[in-house]
Amino acid sequence: MNVSLVLLPSDADPENMQENQVVVFDVLRATSTMTTAIAAGAEQIRFFADPDAALATRREYPHALLCGEKGCLKIPGFDLGNSPLEFRPEVVRGQVILMATTNGTKAVHAARSARRLFAGSLLNARATAEALLRNPENIVLLCAGTDNHPALEDILGAGAVMSELKNLAADSAIGSTDLAMTAYFAFRQAAADMYSALSNAQGARNLVAAGLSGDIVHCSRLNGLPSVVQIAGDQLATVPRA
Ligand code: MLT
Repeated sequence: MNVSLVLLPSDADPENMQENQVVVFDVLRATSTMTTAIAAGAEQIRFFADPDAALATRREYPHALLCGEKGCLKIPGFDLGNSPLEFRPEVVRGQVILMATTNGTKAVHAARSARRLFAGSLLNARATAEALLRNPENIVLLCAGTDNHPALEDILGAGAVMSELKNLAADSAIGSTDLAMTAYFAFRQAAADMYSALSNAQGARNLVAAGLSGDIVHCSRLNGLPSVVQIAGDQLATVPRA
């Protein structure tokens, strides 16, 4: 099984994805929020590339929760922002979530042709690696980045999944590109104090400026949640739990 890493959605090759399992990372915060929402019992998340499309779809899902951010903050008129701490069981259990964020949900759209598609984060690195190893296809770790720049936190999330793959499978069973190995080494360097490592990221500085540093603490909890976030690319929605 071979693992490669793509730093930005604009670098991804849709044809290559058709053959592969793809994991999208937007560790601060969209894919961490997806992980938290599914762990809290959300029934389904549907992904939109922009807030207007999410708003329009609410007509089909009048009881759904409209969630998303602009500049880290909740969009006016939406039910929830993109803070994982808002996605508590009493808020999201059994709910359909319509989600639009600046980078994360756009990255999900960019990966929609994948043979199998997942949302990964530090929170569910082990659970995601276990799910990936159940399938035969090679793996692409796709970082969402921040405003078309590679993001430290996404590289660390990808490195965490690489690390779990290596822990779970025989080391010789996991081949990787140099970029994927670079993420793995970066993760190993950061793992002892993930909060401090994440705090160096531009995305973290943006959150601190918005008064949302508690989100960084939550998103840095390595393997803190057991949820696998699998997405049906053709539906742009999470796959129902078995
Ligand atoms: C995004 O999707 O751009 C991010 O998750 C931004 C954020 O932290 O809300």
